[in-house]
Amino acid sequence: MKKNPSRNVHFSKDPSDLLDEINASIDVDQRLYKEDISGSIAHAKMLGKQKIISKKDSDRLVKGLKSIQTDIDKNKVKFSRSLEDIHMNIENLLLKKIGKVAEKLHTARSRNDQVVTDLKLWIKNNSVELDKELKNFQKTLIKISEKNVDTIMPGYTHLQIAQPVTLAHHLLAYVEMIGRDRSRLKDCIYRLDENPLGSAALAGTSYPIDRMYTTKELGFREPTRNAMDSVSDRDFAIEFIFSLSLIGVHLSRMAEEIILWSNQQFNFIFLPDELSTGSSIMPQKKNPDGAELVRAKASLIIGNLGTILNILKGLPLSYSKDLQDDKNLIFNSYDNLLLSLKVINEILSKSKFNKLKMKEVVENSDSTATDLANWLVQNLNYTFRDAYKTTGTIVDYCSKKKLNLGQLTLEELQSFDKKININAKKLLSATDSVVIKSSFGGTSPKNTKKMIKFVIKKYLK
Ligand code: ARG
Repeated sequence: MKKNPSRNVHFSKDPSDLLDEINASIDVDQRLYKEDISGSIAHAKMLGKQKIISKKDSDRLVKGLKSIQTDIDKNKVKFSRSLEDIHMNIENLLLKKIGKVAEKLHTARSRNDQVVTDLKLWIKNNSVELDKELKNFQKTLIKISEKNVDTIMPGYTHLQIAQPVTLAHHLLAYVEMIGRDRSRLKDCIYRLDENPLGSAALAGTSYPIDRMYTTKELGFREPTRNAMDSVSDRDFAIEFIFSLSLIGVHLSRMAEEIILWSNQQFNFIFLPDELSTGSSIMPQKKNPDGAELVRAKASLIIGNLGTILNILKGLPLSYSKDLQDDKNLIFNSYDNLLLSLKVINEILSKSKFNKLKMKEVVENSDSTATDLANWLVQNLNYTFRDAYKTTGTIVDYCSKKKLNLGQLTLEELQSFDKKININAKKLLSATDSVVIKSSFGGTSPKNTKKMIKFVIKKYLK
């Protein structure tokens, strides 16, 4: 018989190869080894402190676990599939290293509380790196914004040219999105920061354990309050994958803009050579594959969110093995997101904006029509609806004449209302249009400069 400590004497046969194949999770959950060892060290210390095992045994467990961590760090360990998962593998490594005393480690705990503790620790540890990358991305966006508070471009609604905006205004929109993402991640970590260790299988334990002690040792805020909930709860995993999904959605929207902007018909952005690909057949092509794949990765992460919600919805309390498949979803979402974040950041920071083209497009449009309507309201006492109608007639005239608003002479404008004067004409330039959008949150360069100062303080300090 194979040596799997979770198979007691009541089994007369080893698990079949097929069962092993579906049941073993070590290929995935070996990524939890550091967290698993930290959890075990805290547990072993607590067992000693509470005199559930002797101080000497507790010390031997801790020492053995530390040295296993070094072995794994140095790649000296080969995990075994027949031991199912990381928890059994480490217990077995400990047995080989320190002998029979290793078998005391699993007193007063279960793999059910062990795995959920590991997973929470892993998410806590790895969200630090994620937040760092999110902040880096904000840094890039802000840096480009600082140089482009006066760079005029078309702003779109329905992907139709709507009103002139500045490139800084456009990019700062993403700074806000990523800001919300970072705070959402923080909230998620706050809620998951409760220690499940000591819940044992589902009912708690009859040993005099000290959950406050392990909570402190492991850096959790407080212990969980219901052992059944503790071992069956994966809300935190869902929230984490949701947070990643929404970040993915934001990156995907940026990716989509990069794809559009680098398209020849937009021609707003030049992609760096080292971040674009060629075609195997069309010699002239330069493709935005990186951005396209970021768009696809968001779909994978959203898929993972649907999957984990589906896994959970049919499970009775408390632990069921279905929950084992949560890890793959978490790791896969995390890896894809971190990669996407780095790729988008790199593309954006190395791309060149075609300022001339952006200005040309906005100036060859009727994007200042709203400004003209507003001028009629503010200077000639029109109601907004009347102004809207008159401006519509003027725009109609332009399209018949194949002109744009800015090209109309004062005389032409006056043929619609003789009180229209030169001030209205001046306003039809995109630059002036942007300057007057000075309401809080508006695109005016003066505003934008203030906003940049604000976001630097809020997000980068
Ligand atoms: N590998 C398992 C998981 O990831 C550990 C928990 C196993 N618990 C059990 N009762 N079989 O969920």
